[in-house]
Amino acid sequence: MNSQKSKADSIIFRRPELKDASGIHNLIKRSPPLDVNSLYCYLLLCDHFRNTCIVAEKDRKVIGFIAAYLPPTKLDTLFVWQVVVAKPLRNRSLATKMLNKLLQSTPVLYIETTVTPSNDASMRFFRAFAHAREATLLSAAGYARDLFGKNSHEEELLLRLGPFDGGNQTIKGDIL
Ligand SMILES: CC(C)(COP(=O)(O)OP(=O)(O)OC[C@H]1O[C@@H](n2cnc3c(N)ncnc32)[C@H](O)[C@@H]1OP(=O)(O)O)[C@@H](O)C(=O)NCCC(=O)NCCS
Repeated sequence: MNSQKSKADSIIFRRPELKDASGIHNLIKRSPPLDVNSLYCYLLLCDHFRNTCIVAEKDRKVIGFIAAYLPPTKLDTLFVWQVVVAKPLRNRSLATKMLNKLLQSTPVLYIETTVTPSNDASMRFFRAFAHAREATLLSAAGYARDLFGKNSHEEELLLRLGPFDGGNQTIKGDIL
């Protein structure tokens, strides 16, 4: 896999490696309202799921990450678990670039994700992404609040974006 460096902003987009797990974990910790999973969870993502995840790196630091995988029962769908960009680098289309690159390297028909209704940035991000790719965005019940037990956790709405044309659209930027 070739990592790609944009000379304009010196940001490298690449597959995560085991050594990235700690940096990803720290980035997630600094990025509410995301759930902070264990470091072990990020190690697994960087190991078993690295082909469907992406890291953005600047000055040797992880400044962006998308955790995603192909659900075993839905291989035409990329499930996007967490999207994060370091606060000082937000609103520069970095998350959009990462997701476009993932879609290019993992050609699927659909993207699914879950969002908490109060996460406006997340809702708007996926709405804008669907709009830019001329895809439909459907929302449905995902994981109800009571499934989270006694933890105070909002419900998670399921978003389904697509259909994409299996990665054949022309996207600005390079494939991973
Ligand atoms: C959500 C997040 C990943 C967006 O990253 P980003 O690199 O700033 O996103 P982009 O610049 O690619 O934004 C693309 C579109 O998303 C929408 N968007 C992104 N952040 C937004 C925000 N804070 N409020 C409202 N809309 C937002 C905008 O519509 C934007 O399109 P525009 O630039 O044409 O207006 C980033 O804000 C983040 O890490 N937030 C904390 C973690 C989190 O909530 N993650 C869930 C993400 S799905």
